Amino acid sequence: MNSKIRKISVVGAGYLGKQIIEKSLLYNYKIKAFDTNKEDLDAFTKRMKKTIEDKNLSASITQFNNIAEAVKGVDLVIEAVPEKLELKREIFPKIDKAASPHTIIATNSSSIPISKIEDVVERKDKVMNIHFYDLFMLPIADIMRGTQTSEATFEKGRAWLESIEITPLEVKKECYGFVMNRIWRAIKKDCLKIWAGDHADIEIVDKAWRLFCQFFSKTNLGPFQFMDRIGLDVVYDIEMSYFKNSGYPDDKPPDALKEMVDRGELGVKSGKGFYRYKTK
Ligand SMILES: NC(=O)c1ccc[n+]([C@@H]2O[C@H](COP(=O)([O-])OP(=O)(O)OC[C@H]3O[C@@H](n4cnc5c(N)ncnc54)[C@H](O)[C@@H]3O)[C@@H](O)[C@H]2O)c1
Repeated sequence: MNSKIRKISVVGAGYLGKQIIEKSLLYNYKIKAFDTNKEDLDAFTKRMKKTIEDKNLSASITQFNNIAEAVKGVDLVIEAVPEKLELKREIFPKIDKAASPHTIIATNSSSIPISKIEDVVERKDKVMNIHFYDLFMLPIADIMRGTQTSEATFEKGRAWLESIEITPLEVKKECYGFVMNRIWRAIKKDCLKIWAGDHADIEIVDKAWRLFCQFFSKTNLGPFQFMDRIGLDVVYDIEMSYFKNSGYPDDKPPDALKEMVDRGELGVKSGKGFYRYKTK
């Protein structure tokens, strides 16, 4: 373990909470867990104890019947209860009151920024978003600060993620949907419109997506590298064409892109775009 976090509490051990627990155990963290569904947590805890034994891990898991006991003495609490703002706002003060002063409290919320929860706790500098996807199949997590999250808190959260081999995706400025969820949202949004407008069959959309992903996987390109290859003047014109067609302000490409084009920063072909390139 290369982070200062040693003991973790997971409040809400459902679909995601269980994954957080299991992954952390595999990296020898000490886990305390609480879930209102005691029977389910019982069965899961038994299974995890067997995993610890079978794999000869130095980890441990203990389940508790209340939040206060479950968060006592840990370095990090991950809240993974259902996606209801009122519920999260009810649970955070309970954690805040019972946890040690140094404890970081993170929410695994898929959509709620921690800034919408932070006012119900005293430790406003020790709260953050840590949003997982699938800890075993897609080992990335968005990390986002609240309005008063300290850099020490943020860095500890990041280091802990790296210690369990999850790649942290830093959100620099609060944004709805974080990093990856926002990218995925853009894809989802238009897939649904193609489907609802009967523009193409869903099987065609899925096939196109799979082939598209294969291309990105083979070339190892990201969207910004790909736009640099296409040419930013071309990208700008395409985006303007969408904007002129719909008239929606949201479809207008950012002014910053137009400024890059005006400066001659066109991507690979000009030696500079979002990235720099060697010109022949
Ligand atoms: N499912 C996903 O793929 C996914 C991915 C990323 C983030 N998330 C987020 O993680 C959170 C949990 O989602 P999930 O899919 O694991 O939901 P889930 O319904 O599988 O699990 C929630 C768990 O919380 C427990 N719970 C309910 N009220 C509680 C309380 N007061 N105290 C303690 N435990 C309580 C439930 O018994 C359940 O086991 C949500 O905020 C969700 O948005 C989910």
